[in-house]
Amino acid sequence: MARVKIIGEQPLHGAVNISGAKNSALPIMAAMVLLNGESVLKNVPTLTDITTMIRMLRSINILAEQSGGVIRVDNKKQIKHLIPYELVTKMRASFFIAGPILAKAGMVRIPMPGGCAIGSRPVDIHIKGFQALGADVRLEHGFIEIRCKKLKGGHVNFTFPSVGATENIMMASTLAEGVTTITNAAREPEIVDLAALLNKAGAKIRGAGASTITVEGVSGLSGAEHSIIPDRIEAGTMLLAGLITHGKITVNKINPQDISALLSALADTGARLNIKNNSIEALSPGSWNSASLITQPHPGFPTDMQAQMMTYLALASGTSTIRETIFENRFMHTGELQRMGADIRTEERVAIIKGVKKLSGAEVRATDLRAGAALWLAGLAAKGETIIYDIEHIERGYERLTDKLSSLGANIKRLT
Ligand code: EPZ
Repeated sequence: MARVKIIGEQPLHGAVNISGAKNSALPIMAAMVLLNGESVLKNVPTLTDITTMIRMLRSINILAEQSGGVIRVDNKKQIKHLIPYELVTKMRASFFIAGPILAKAGMVRIPMPGGCAIGSRPVDIHIKGFQALGADVRLEHGFIEIRCKKLKGGHVNFTFPSVGATENIMMASTLAEGVTTITNAAREPEIVDLAALLNKAGAKIRGAGASTITVEGVSGLSGAEHSIIPDRIEAGTMLLAGLITHGKITVNKINPQDISALLSALADTGARLNIKNNSIEALSPGSWNSASLITQPHPGFPTDMQAQMMTYLALASGTSTIRETIFENRFMHTGELQRMGADIRTEERVAIIKGVKKLSGAEVRATDLRAGAALWLAGLAAKGETIIYDIEHIERGYERLTDKLSSLGANIKRLT
């Protein structure tokens, strides 16, 4: 596994272009199963998860090639309905392909996605959704087998606004007979982006981005061309990199309204933000206030920014609290931050963070994508040298991270 070495305390200055959103590109690539013929996806980040999804599409007879930020897809052959075990267990997002295959082929056989570092992450909400559309679901030998010759539109109510389940059911219902209404749907911007792609291909989706989504089934979808929205989590993480190093950075190619909860939380800590149409400039206030945050489904404070915010608050003046309501085990970064001098204790799903003056560089290990991001923010701010192990976790979600941080003045080097 690769490592990265950071010499901290270099204030970051300059502008950085935000890449396309991983969490929009992945479900949109799964949607390629539904689109007949040729499609083109632009502004797609070059990440290991994207490569895994390309391999997934190829494994079911769909041609997909990435060159630079463009993926060309050719879906003309009869698709297979069995998903390889080793691909699903590599990446939970592979499960998003179940709905499209079920709708297209009438059946799908997919391994139960394993849990991961941040929790068990079951798929019961997805399964109940498929059953509400008339599918028969069987679990055997670690596989889920879902069958339904023709899905029937119906009412799908989610007990929790699951992002993946909203995407899976929205995709499956595009080819169902009749109208599907999804209530208590997730409202993330990535769902709006997915619906935009599907509607370009002939789907009839209304309400994406609100809690009730209506999908009128159609007989088939054509190819389409689409550019992926910017990655709001990368943008938020980069803003924190500027603030935590007492620098001044601008993130370009971002939709500020996609991270309004984060921006108001940062403003409350005293960060000076200059928000324009598709860029945000953050100027460090020198010292910043503590905060009390609760992660919530969009448009609330995003769980994918929780770890990074914890690092920032570890250096705030005063004591902060963060309540993590989305995942049951998303404080893996706390231990490593403590080793760098942070004063944090956790009680169940609440972290109490007592601000300290300085963090000190150390050897630390990334356990998952956003915990890894919290560690590189800590390394940028800490006194001395930080080595982060297992940075493959981080590179799943941050395109060309080392280059981008170096271009902002960070003293950072990838060690193979
Ligand atoms: C998506 O995961 C994102 N991943 C996650 O980003 C993000 O943290 C999450 O949404 C929440 O915003 C992608 O889009 C690829 P959920 P997803 O279904 O769809 C429980 C990152 O760092 N749940 O909204 O898996 C689940 O266990 C990643 O980029 C069920 O109980 O999230 C979790 O506690 C991490 N049953 C909560 O709901 C289900 O059937 C939220 O899960 C489904 C989910």
